[in-house]
Amino acid sequence: MNRTMIVGCIFCSCISFTAAVKAQQPLYKNAALPVEERVDDLLGRMTLEEKILQLNQYTLGRNTNENNLGEEIGQIPAEIGSLIYFGETPEVRNAMQKRAVEESRLGIPLIFGYDVIHGFRTVYPISLAQACSWNTSLVEDACAMAAMEARKSGVDWTFSPMIDVARDGRWGRISEGYGEDPYANAAFCVASVNGYQGDNLKSPDRVAACLKHYVGYGASEAGMDYVYTEISHQTLWDTYLPPYEAGIKAGAQTVMSSFNDISGTPGSSNHYTMTEILKNRWKHDGFVVSDWSAVPQLIAQGAAVDGKEAARLAFNAGLEMDMMGRCYDKHLEALVNEGKVPMERIDDAVRRILRVKFRLGLFEHPYTPAGEPAERFLLPQSVAVAERLAEESIVLLKNEGGILPLLHPGATSTRNIAVMGPLVDAEKELLGNWNGHGRAEDVYPIRKALQEEFAGRANLLFHTGCPFDGDDRTQFAGALEVARQADVLLLFMGERYSWSGENCVRSTIELPAIQCDFIAEMKKVGKPIVLVLANGRPLALGNVEPLCDAIVEMWQPGVPGGRPVAGVLSGRVNPSGKLSVTFPRTTGQIPIYYNRRKSARPASGKYQDIPSTPLYEFGHGLSYTRFDYGRLSLSKTSVAAGEKLVAQIPVTNAGQCDGAETVHWFVSDPVCRITRPNKELKHFEKQLVKAGETKTFSFEIDPMRDLSFVDADGRRFLEPGEYYIMVGGQKAKLEIHE
Ligand code: BGC
Repeated sequence: MNRTMIVGCIFCSCISFTAAVKAQQPLYKNAALPVEERVDDLLGRMTLEEKILQLNQYTLGRNTNENNLGEEIGQIPAEIGSLIYFGETPEVRNAMQKRAVEESRLGIPLIFGYDVIHGFRTVYPISLAQACSWNTSLVEDACAMAAMEARKSGVDWTFSPMIDVARDGRWGRISEGYGEDPYANAAFCVASVNGYQGDNLKSPDRVAACLKHYVGYGASEAGMDYVYTEISHQTLWDTYLPPYEAGIKAGAQTVMSSFNDISGTPGSSNHYTMTEILKNRWKHDGFVVSDWSAVPQLIAQGAAVDGKEAARLAFNAGLEMDMMGRCYDKHLEALVNEGKVPMERIDDAVRRILRVKFRLGLFEHPYTPAGEPAERFLLPQSVAVAERLAEESIVLLKNEGGILPLLHPGATSTRNIAVMGPLVDAEKELLGNWNGHGRAEDVYPIRKALQEEFAGRANLLFHTGCPFDGDDRTQFAGALEVARQADVLLLFMGERYSWSGENCVRSTIELPAIQCDFIAEMKKVGKPIVLVLANGRPLALGNVEPLCDAIVEMWQPGVPGGRPVAGVLSGRVNPSGKLSVTFPRTTGQIPIYYNRRKSARPASGKYQDIPSTPLYEFGHGLSYTRFDYGRLSLSKTSVAAGEKLVAQIPVTNAGQCDGAETVHWFVSDPVCRITRPNKELKHFEKQLVKAGETKTFSFEIDPMRDLSFVDADGRRFLEPGEYYIMVGGQKAKLEIHE
């Protein structure tokens, strides 16, 4: 045999050996096969016990001494479906994954989830602020960066976005969503799902998204957390479901069931929402995970008598994975044996979870490659996105007499600026709630940012002035001294990060009394006051607004900290944010939102003690330049249901500096068989308009999409008749004919 023949023989036997191995290899391990075939094959091999374990999620690593993690891992069944992963590096994940892949009979990889809410290590502005940017592509970029940091750290799945429409600022979780409007929540939901998931979930820098909290959690009564919500089916369809429908269409792989009781049926045992709507109508083929312990909490809610009944109700209603409830692992097997849970339902649920694992490529790549934290965390491009997003989120609420920006071009005299308030040196507070692995030391301090921004151009006089809350007024006198030496006072007030988020309810959304008193005290000096706010909810500023010449809402910006707002204060950055949520005058106006249904007597029924209007309405936000809106035009004024048309409006930047403008397009149906609000947002667009330039903003109207509504069972209808397209204070009539 010559050399070529020998090599040939070896080659052939290698091929036949590989083929033989392949033939023996179970189909589910063959990456070349379609996901559904692999799922079927794997499911066919699983025992009931193995199937049930897939339906559970435990935690790994919270508050644990790293040294004991091995022990903790040892206690978790290798066949468990999922773990919440609190680690920042992949080692512990990989150790646990090794057990699942190498020590379980079928080697099914785990899926590791975590709350990557507004960033993993690079913390972006809170979601409520992000929505004020009206810049969906920036939000998508931020989510993509967060996904990269998370996946490379061992997380495959984020419990985000939160798309609960929220209209009660007392509810601490209002900070986690995109505000009060269903359309805005839907738009930012799609952006974030695209950012997290990209077009290929197998990519090493994408994660699966989870739409939460399904559904109506934001309707919490009196703003309290975990409580009952009263939501008619009409409101469910009009207000709470649209962002979810958009997220499912965008391909979100998972959904989290909510804690709240929805008019008598809790979100976590709700067959209508989880099965009839999500699975049957919207054809979602991923899975539903419960919120933390939401399954056993059905007992507290009075829906179930014990954990076993809770498991049966939740599971049969369409909830596939029990997050930390320990009801499925304990009771599902008995429930199947007793015929109370159908085997087909078990198979369907497991199939859904496996499908997502296959799509994420976990069978081929179960381990997260080791990498240097510096190669993924706080990369310059991630921080740059955070900074731009924070800049664009800032809302200039008031600017009396054009007091801002503080540095006018060409101004020569140096000004004394007093900088006071509890937020000046409070980096951690600027991260906002649910700050992942964010660290206070990553946040650009306000003090430093201002010093750099104003270096050589103003004298900054710092003084803490007053605390966040309590009644320690000992610093007031010193602050007054400083204020007297200043030309203008910059007061950094607002909330601690822990005042918003889960289980952070406040009975009033006014600033704490001591902060209000401090502002009033400073007013005595007679110098202009610029109030800068960082907070995690809309605030009721009716009592302090008259004392302030300018008000800047900087929100909780994440790692860019003080830099973006310093830019706005100096004039380097022209503010372009607009409110994603209404700011009332007082807490007593809650719930207050722009798209309320119409009153029987619009001119009466008002509050006797205050104006009934909001202090700052949804969409409000000032700029340093002036935008003049030209004439609104429609390409057609009468169309059939299937015909599209375009609405346009020219916007001119009539001021001296460049600026970005967001145009909000609303529709109104004056008479409808199911009443409608005065106006409803259906489109928005943001563009940079240079000084002196005119840009055209357009809205392509598809009547079936933009002028149709849903009834109480989600059936869409479009009525012929009169509609209005509304933009910037103008409206144009449109006729839909048969
Ligand atoms: C929250 C969810 C979160 C989950 C996991 C729950 O308490 O309501 O939003 O995703 O915990 O941390």
